Amino acid sequence: MDIIIDLQDLFWNRDDGDILKGINWQVMAGEHWVILGLNGSGKTSLLKMITGYEWPTKGRVMVLGQTYGACEIQEVRKSIGWVSSAIRDELYRNDTALQIVISGKYASIGLWKEIDNVDRERAHKILSDMSCEALTDKRYGTLSQGEKQKILLARALMAEPRLLILDEPCFGLDIQAREQVLSAIQTLGSLPNAPTILYVTHHIEEILPIFSHVLLLHNGVIAAAGKKREVLTEQNISSTFGVQAHLDWLDERPWLRVSRMVR
Ligand SMILES: Nc1ncnc2c1ncn2[C@@H]1O[C@H](COP(=O)(O)OP(=O)(O)OP(=O)(O)O)[C@@H](O)[C@H]1O
Ligand SMILES: [Mg+2]
Repeated sequence: MDIIIDLQDLFWNRDDGDILKGINWQVMAGEHWVILGLNGSGKTSLLKMITGYEWPTKGRVMVLGQTYGACEIQEVRKSIGWVSSAIRDELYRNDTALQIVISGKYASIGLWKEIDNVDRERAHKILSDMSCEALTDKRYGTLSQGEKQKILLARALMAEPRLLILDEPCFGLDIQAREQVLSAIQTLGSLPNAPTILYVTHHIEEILPIFSHVLLLHNGVIAAAGKKREVLTEQNISSTFGVQAHLDWLDERPWLRVSRMVR
C-alpha cells in the first residue's frame, strides 16, 4: 500500500521551547484522518511540516513518496490541497464562484493562462458534485460563510490533489452551513479516487463516517493515533481535553457530552 505521509522522529523547536516532540506518524493511501488537540497543541504546526512551510529541527518528513530536503517541495505542493477557515475572507471578492474554483488549478501551478473549456467543464462538475450549481455566477464577496467554504473546497479540488488538508473548515459556520460543508466532505471522501483527507477540528461531532483514523495531539506529543473507534475512547478524549467526556455514537458520528473539568 502507498504511504502518503511518513513522519519519523520529528521535532520542531522554537525559542520558547519544543512545539513538536518526537512525532512518528504514518498515513497510508485509502485512509482519512482527523487531528484533534487543544489550542496550541501543535496541530497547525504539524500541517506546516507536511506542506513544507516550516522545517523540522530534527527528523524526517516524507510526503507522497518525496523526502523533504531531497526533492522540489513546490512539486509536492502541487498535489496538496489546503483549505483553511483563515483564508475564507482573503480571496478576490468580485470574482464569481466559478472563477475562484477554476483559479485553484493555476494557483497550485503558479501561473495563469487562458481558461479552456476543459477547465470550465471540470469546475462545473465539481460545483455540481457539491450541490453548488446555484452559486456558479454569484460574486464570492456576497456569499455566506458556509457557501464560501464550499467554494474554497471546490477550488482546492480543481488541482486534483492527492492529499487534501482541511484546517478547521467549519470554523464560524452555523449548524446548517456546517452540515452542508460536512455533507460535501463526506461525499468527496467516499469517492473511489478521493484524495487522502487530513481534517483538523475542535468539534468531535464533525468526525464523519468517512474518517477512518484519528490522531490526538497533546502538548506537541502524539497521545494516541490509530483507527477511529480505538482512539476515540472516553478515556483518551477525557485526558486529551482535560474534561470528563462521554461519547455517544449516532449514525456513525460521535457526539460529545462533558460532565465536568478534570484539571
Ligand atoms: N512560528 C512560530 N514560532 C514560535 N511559536 C510558534 C510558532 N508557530 C506556532 N507556535 C507555537 O506553537 C504552539 C502550537 O501552535 P499551533 O498553531 O500548531 O497550535 P494548534 O494546535 O493549531 O492550535 P489551535 O487549535 O489554536 O489552532 C503554540 O504554543 C504556538 O504559540
Ligand atoms: Mg491551528
